[in-house]
Amino acid sequence: MSQQIDHVFDENRRFVPSEEFAANAIAGPELYDEAAADREAFWAKQSRELIDWHKPFTNVLDWSNPPFAKWFDDGELNVAYNCLDRHVEAGRGDRVAFHFEGEPGDTRTITYAQLTEEVKRVANVLTDLGVGRGDRVAIYLPMIPEAVASLLAVARLGAAHSVVFGGFSADSLRSRIDDAGAKVVITADGGYRKGKATSLKPAVDQALADRGDGEQATVQNVLVVKRTGQDVDWNDERDIWWHDAVATASAEHEAEAFPSENPLFILYTSGTTGKPKGILHTSGGYLTQAAFTHRSVFDLRPESDVFWCTADIGWVTGHSYSVYGPLANGATQVLYEGTPEYPEPGRWWDIIEKYGVTIFYTAPTAVRSFMKQGREIPQKRDLSSIRLLGSVGEPINPEAWMWFREVIGAGDVPIVDTWWQTETGAIMISPLPGVTETKPGSAQVAMPGIAIDVVDEKGEPVGDGAGGLLVVTEPWPSMLRGIWGDPDRFVDTYWKMFADKGYYFAGDGARKDEDGDIWLLGRVDDVMNVSGHRLSTTEIESALVAHEATAEAAVVGANDETTGQAVVAFVILKESFLKQHGPEGLAQDLRTWVGAQIGPIARPRDVFIVNELPKTRSGKIMRRLLRDVAEGREVGDTQTLADTMVMSAITKQVK
Ligand code: PRX
Repeated sequence: MSQQIDHVFDENRRFVPSEEFAANAIAGPELYDEAAADREAFWAKQSRELIDWHKPFTNVLDWSNPPFAKWFDDGELNVAYNCLDRHVEAGRGDRVAFHFEGEPGDTRTITYAQLTEEVKRVANVLTDLGVGRGDRVAIYLPMIPEAVASLLAVARLGAAHSVVFGGFSADSLRSRIDDAGAKVVITADGGYRKGKATSLKPAVDQALADRGDGEQATVQNVLVVKRTGQDVDWNDERDIWWHDAVATASAEHEAEAFPSENPLFILYTSGTTGKPKGILHTSGGYLTQAAFTHRSVFDLRPESDVFWCTADIGWVTGHSYSVYGPLANGATQVLYEGTPEYPEPGRWWDIIEKYGVTIFYTAPTAVRSFMKQGREIPQKRDLSSIRLLGSVGEPINPEAWMWFREVIGAGDVPIVDTWWQTETGAIMISPLPGVTETKPGSAQVAMPGIAIDVVDEKGEPVGDGAGGLLVVTEPWPSMLRGIWGDPDRFVDTYWKMFADKGYYFAGDGARKDEDGDIWLLGRVDDVMNVSGHRLSTTEIESALVAHEATAEAAVVGANDETTGQAVVAFVILKESFLKQHGPEGLAQDLRTWVGAQIGPIARPRDVFIVNELPKTRSGKIMRRLLRDVAEGREVGDTQTLADTMVMSAITKQVK
């Protein structure tokens, strides 16, 4: 089957960086030239500038055994030292590392000196529990400062962390603990979400309970942070209170150097075959690209900026842009525990105003939910501190991009739409804010030093103006080094498709426009085939979101006797529109609208107005479930949904 994707939706707005921004930008156009002249030399230079190596490297890239890469492999470093001690040693210990805001409103201000001391103590506690180089530690915590300290303490010891998002069940936690063979689990009694104390420790107890299968759990100890004060069951031989152990531990701890390719973390991402994949990242290359991209994409000035990445630490975005990238760069950040709508929908904007956030990095799903609620809410707050906005996680529809810029960015701040994956470790495609003329909805260009192409099923470039499969054509420093314990699956999943070319296949569809700029078109598995035309979900969704009534849309291809597949759309309306007009006749209007915007080929057969869309815990729309509804089937496995009730509501509405 052809992998070409037809292009149907045009977006012609353009935004150049202001002269002032361009003149002062951290990252200038010369970076592209330097990287093009010698990619490896470029990365070596970045690494030497941004990272302190205990033992300098002489090798840059070893690609003698593809797809297993080694970067800077004769060098030695300590990742936590780079994020902490060196800032204190350089006299920046008083700089705020985190403005922490708990959901109930409790706050803590944590300087680099304080965070360094805490991490040293935790490292000593973990050492006493027998954790050392090569071990794995599972982390199952809310978004609290102890989560950051835990990651860094594990890294400091040369062990690897496996963070499991706090919204996952005991079963998911158990399978991840088992797969990684974790020695210690760090958790909390609970955390705060939507105004309630939720519990975590019981899930750990359940995950570690005797399974009656004779299997010995690998976990020897559980370190428990007291966050909510709720009652917990206690296993005296196994469980240790964080506050007891950390308070009595020594604050002296020398960071030891570990080889560049020492594992830093495993992060599980759901595969298509059910069994989660443990994506493995290592130290030197990962830290280099995380720090470089954080500095250049966000134009970071560590002395004055307040950076806020809203992602949970349970996702890769939280790893790379709330922990490793920003801390390596000595940034000041906001860390927020709860949900955007508690105690009221403007909570995030209150936080931005309160801490004077200058750089704000979030997901399109959040932007669209704010569009649904209405611009009056952010407009009641002073957001004038913001000077740069970032987006990650899904394609951002041009209309959501415009709303983000106008309402949150006062109509004049640059937006960086950053494409990357758990597997890529750090940003791969993005504008540089002082260089790139931005186009709403496009992630635009490969980062300096990153080689990206859009190809057909044979691996041949589709050329400008055409759509196809997104590939990475050269190894990059923060690339995944494998799937934990399963090298064959690593090769099969990412490298088999273009084995003869040695390309990494990301699973995403993309298009290059006439200028060569890249537009992400959604997962290739979601591409629809309507009367022989291969249509991307993204373009039709963007057309729907461009209608004044729509806040969010998801489309799927459903079996159709005449056209093979037909477009079926699920749409969430803006509250302001609903109040004024009501939903009558709108489904028909939206069909006509898409037909006019794109053409009859893309006109949805059905448009369903719904209140919610099914989303994963990280906010991505699960189109597979909508396809079940559209085709009249029983809805499949909803375990990975953030809210499992959503599907029954949608099924009812559709009926
Ligand atoms: O489909 C792409 C989408 O998210 C996928 C990676 O998801 P995950 O591993 O959870 O990492 C999310 C945070 C990096 C990609 O394969 N995606 C991510 N960023 C974008 C995007 N799609 C379009 N535009 C983006 N900026």
